Amino acid sequence: MTSNKAFYLTTPIYYVNDAPHIGHAYTTVAGDLMTRWHRMAGEDVWFLTGTDEHGQKVLRTAVANNVEPQAWADKLVKDAWLPVLDVIDAANDDFIRTTEPRHTQRVQRFLSSLKDAGHIYEGSYEGPYCVGCEEFKLAGDLIAGDGDEKLCPIHSKPVEQISETNYFFKLSAFAKDLIAHYEANPQAIRPESAYNEVMSFLRSGLQDLSISRSTFDWGIDVPWDPSQVVYVWFDALLNYATAVGLGDEPGSAGAQKFANTWPADVHLVGKDILRFHAVIWPAMLMAAHLPLPKCVFAHGWLLVGGEKMSKSKLTGISPQSIVDLIGSDAFRYYFMRAIIFGQDGSFSWEDLVARYTAELANGLGNLASRVQAMVVKNFQGLLPAPGELTAAEKVLTELLIKTATQADTCIRAFDFQTGIVAVKEFIDAVNLYVTEQEPWTLAKKDDEQSRLRLATILYTVCESLRAISILYSPLMPKSMAALWSDIGASESSLSKNFSDAAVWGQLVPGVKITKSESLFPRIEEPEVI
Ligand code: ME8
Ligand code: MG
Repeated sequence: MTSNKAFYLTTPIYYVNDAPHIGHAYTTVAGDLMTRWHRMAGEDVWFLTGTDEHGQKVLRTAVANNVEPQAWADKLVKDAWLPVLDVIDAANDDFIRTTEPRHTQRVQRFLSSLKDAGHIYEGSYEGPYCVGCEEFKLAGDLIAGDGDEKLCPIHSKPVEQISETNYFFKLSAFAKDLIAHYEANPQAIRPESAYNEVMSFLRSGLQDLSISRSTFDWGIDVPWDPSQVVYVWFDALLNYATAVGLGDEPGSAGAQKFANTWPADVHLVGKDILRFHAVIWPAMLMAAHLPLPKCVFAHGWLLVGGEKMSKSKLTGISPQSIVDLIGSDAFRYYFMRAIIFGQDGSFSWEDLVARYTAELANGLGNLASRVQAMVVKNFQGLLPAPGELTAAEKVLTELLIKTATQADTCIRAFDFQTGIVAVKEFIDAVNLYVTEQEPWTLAKKDDEQSRLRLATILYTVCESLRAISILYSPLMPKSMAALWSDIGASESSLSKNFSDAAVWGQLVPGVKITKSESLFPRIEEPEVI
């Protein structure tokens, strides 16, 4: 039994109305980068993702396809949502589906306890609802459509008017406590723009929330009234806690897991679902006297043609189509490097191919293959021992220390772009070093001194690659593992812990350096797109 609190990060659980597009992969990759980073630092980590399977949106898709909603969800999970995790190389620890008994039972127990504590009452709801968002909308949220029509600003589709007798959660009672909590913990909602949005929403006052539906039955039964199903968001938000044993008996495995994981350190979400996570969810937890998540981070949208990429607007691009072109590592690199995390970013194939070619194929890939080829050619593929380090090498060893610190600080703070660029600039510096030192000229001379100098240069580049392969491994796990072994680091069983990454001189002279397949093969511009 360990008592260490794990670093616990979650992604949204995605609707199974359709297959994933790169917007979903974007959140999961960001979560995967962050959790791999913490794991590499030797921390206990728990990384959760999964699927949101109840509600009208999924039900309607299933009906339109002439299958039962459960069969529809099973198919989508098996054929699309689980496979995409391999496509993007995500190392999640668990995958929760909201139709699993481990979830539905804990949701029912939670709901009963909230009712017993007086947080739930019966009432009637009348107002607009967006099935795309699965959200009860406020008049002020809507935009004008044709004639009198009111549209959801996210889906650009008409909202539906609903009128039902439902159970309500006394959300309004928590506005004051939520404001106080966020005033005391400004880091609990990030980035700052998201914090400000939530604070002004809270200050405008909260209405109670309908948490059940009676006009369809694809959902979790309300335990004391099976004519109602639990509102899909109330059900879905609870996944973060049900997946780690919410409410389990003291002493049980579930209770132990909960103690070791809860509260979540980060709920990573898109800005479309910020309010659910920063208003409704913490209020539910407050009502149950449970600790609140330490941070909700709302990232921006991937845009296509200036609009949010979406399944419903048919602008979704499949992760597989990009991975087929450049591989999973470059896919991960591109989205984390090109877009400031927390802001919107436009996706374009041109930018993707340009960065891949400049930064991965020509930048890092070429550096690795050049030095490997030279060690193979001039030292029979065995890493030579370096001679004395000159000023040129010391510039690199010092830059490496700064780079490792900066990458660590930035990545932990969700500034993925700056963290990655720090490593990229180190790679540029090593490339410049090679250009300036001209090892190919030294290789043509056969005096002792030139040979020693050549050995020093090649050793320096291999050592740099060792550090780069550690710093980039949470971002590009497959190719960095290949690089690590190509430069003989696996032979020496060196530490992959970040804290040692910048310690110079770890590669043991004499290890085998291989010139293997190129890490980032050059690609042709895709024709059609
Ligand atoms: O909202 N750009 O599920 P969902 C960036 N089931 N990220 C995007 C994106 C885009 N264009 N499109 C989608 C739901 N995403 C609920 C969540 S959680 C308890 C329940 C990502 O399938 C982003 O993370 O609509 C967004 O918040 C999420 O997918 C929405 O996925
Ligand atoms: Mg959505």
